[in-house]
Amino acid sequence: MNNKNDQKYIAKTAFGLEEVLEKELNNLGISNTKKFKRAVEFTTDKTGLYKANLALRTSLRILKPFYSFKAQNPDQLYKKVKEYNWEELIQIDDTFAVDGVVNSEFFTHSKYAALKVKDSIVDRIREVKGKRPNIDIKNPKIRLNVHIEQNKCSLLLDSSGDSLHKRGYRVKGGEAPLNEVLAAGMILLSEWDKNSNFVDPMCGSGTLAIEAALLANNIAPNINRKHFGFMNWKDFDQNLFQNVKAKLINEQINFEYEIHANDLSSKMIDIAKSNAITCDIYNKIKFSVNDFKNFEHNLSSGILITNPPYDERIKLDDIKTFYKEFGDTLKKNFTGFDVWILSANAEALKSIGLRTSRRLHLYNGPLESRFYNYQMYHGSKKNKYEKD
Ligand SMILES: C[S@@+](CC[C@H](N)C(=O)[O-])C[C@H]1O[C@@H](n2cnc3c(N)ncnc32)[C@H](O)[C@@H]1O
Repeated sequence: MNNKNDQKYIAKTAFGLEEVLEKELNNLGISNTKKFKRAVEFTTDKTGLYKANLALRTSLRILKPFYSFKAQNPDQLYKKVKEYNWEELIQIDDTFAVDGVVNSEFFTHSKYAALKVKDSIVDRIREVKGKRPNIDIKNPKIRLNVHIEQNKCSLLLDSSGDSLHKRGYRVKGGEAPLNEVLAAGMILLSEWDKNSNFVDPMCGSGTLAIEAALLANNIAPNINRKHFGFMNWKDFDQNLFQNVKAKLINEQINFEYEIHANDLSSKMIDIAKSNAITCDIYNKIKFSVNDFKNFEHNLSSGILITNPPYDERIKLDDIKTFYKEFGDTLKKNFTGFDVWILSANAEALKSIGLRTSRRLHLYNGPLESRFYNYQMYHGSKKNKYEKD
C-alpha cells in the first residue's frame, strides 16, 4: 500500500530475471511493481528499501530516481543538471561518481553523458560553495547514475553501492564462477519448492549450492554485508536498519532436506568449502569429489541444477560425448529428479538425449545461454524423458 513516505525505486537485474525479481519484491510485501527490460520499478518506504537491499536475491542494484528533465544535446544536459541544488546532496568532503546509461539518438556515448553530468555538478558546487568535492570512481561516498532514453534524462542515486551480487562470501572464485544473482535467479526460475533435495554435480566454486542453501534456509543473501550506498545518505536511519536486519534474521528457517555440491576437481571443492564457511552455511551442504558418473546418493527425488563446462578448451567432439554421458547418467542415477541445465553450448545440449520440458534464455556474462528443464520421472512414467 502507498503511504506518504513511499518513494519510487528501480531494481536492476540481469536479462531474463525480471519476473522472478518482481515476485521477490511482492514476497517482501512490495506490491506496486512494474517490469521493464532488466529492471523492476517499485515504490516503498525506507524500511522497504533497506529490506530490499538486504534480502533481494536477483537484484544487482537499487536506484532512486530524484531529478528528471528533457535535453537533446550535451549543452542542454549540462545546463539542466546545473539547476539542481547539488550542494544540498553532496558535501565538499564527500566523494562522488557518475555512471551513465544511454538509449538515445541525441546521446550515443554513456561515458560522455556521465562526464557532462559530473562537470556540471562540480561547477555548480564550486560556484555556490567556493570549493569542489572530489571524484572517486571505485569507492565513492555518493554514487549517481544518469539514464537517458531519447531526450528524457533522469538522475538516480544508487542505494546499494557495490553491486548486490557481491554477497561477501566469495573468498575464492574458481575458473568460471556464476554470478550470484544469476545463480539465485536460475533457482527461482526453476520454481524449486524448497521442500526437496538439491544437487549440483558439477558445482565448481559452489555458487548454486550456496545460493540454494541461503534460499532454502530463508537467509537474506546480503545479511552479512557491511556496507550499502544508502548508509552514506543524510537520511540514513541506523536504528531502523538494525531493526530490519534483526527481523530478517528472525525469519530464518531450518531447511531439512539435503543439499549436495559435487565436482571432479578437489581444488574446486576446497574453494566451494571456503566460500560456504565464509557464508556461514558450511554445515548445510554436503561436499564431495567425484566424476558426475560416479556421484553416489540415496535420494529418491529432488532438484538438480547445474552449469556444466562448455568452454573452447574442450573440443566439440569431446563436449558432445561429455553431454551424452551426462544425459545417460541423469537417466541412470537421477530418476525422480527435476533437472535444469545452463549451457552456452546449444549444440552440445542436443547430445544430452533427453526431452526438454521447458526452455529458457539467459546470459552468463556476455554468453547467450540456454537454461533447459528435463523431468526425470519415476516408474511407469520413466519413458517420458526419452527423446522421440
Ligand atoms: C562451468 S564450471 C561450474 C561453475 C560453477 N557453477 C560456479 O559457480 O563456480 C563447471 C565445473 O564442472 C566440473 N567438471 C568437469 N567435468 C566434470 C565431471 N566429469 N564430473 C564432475 N564435475 C566436472 C569442473 O571441474 C568445473 O568446476
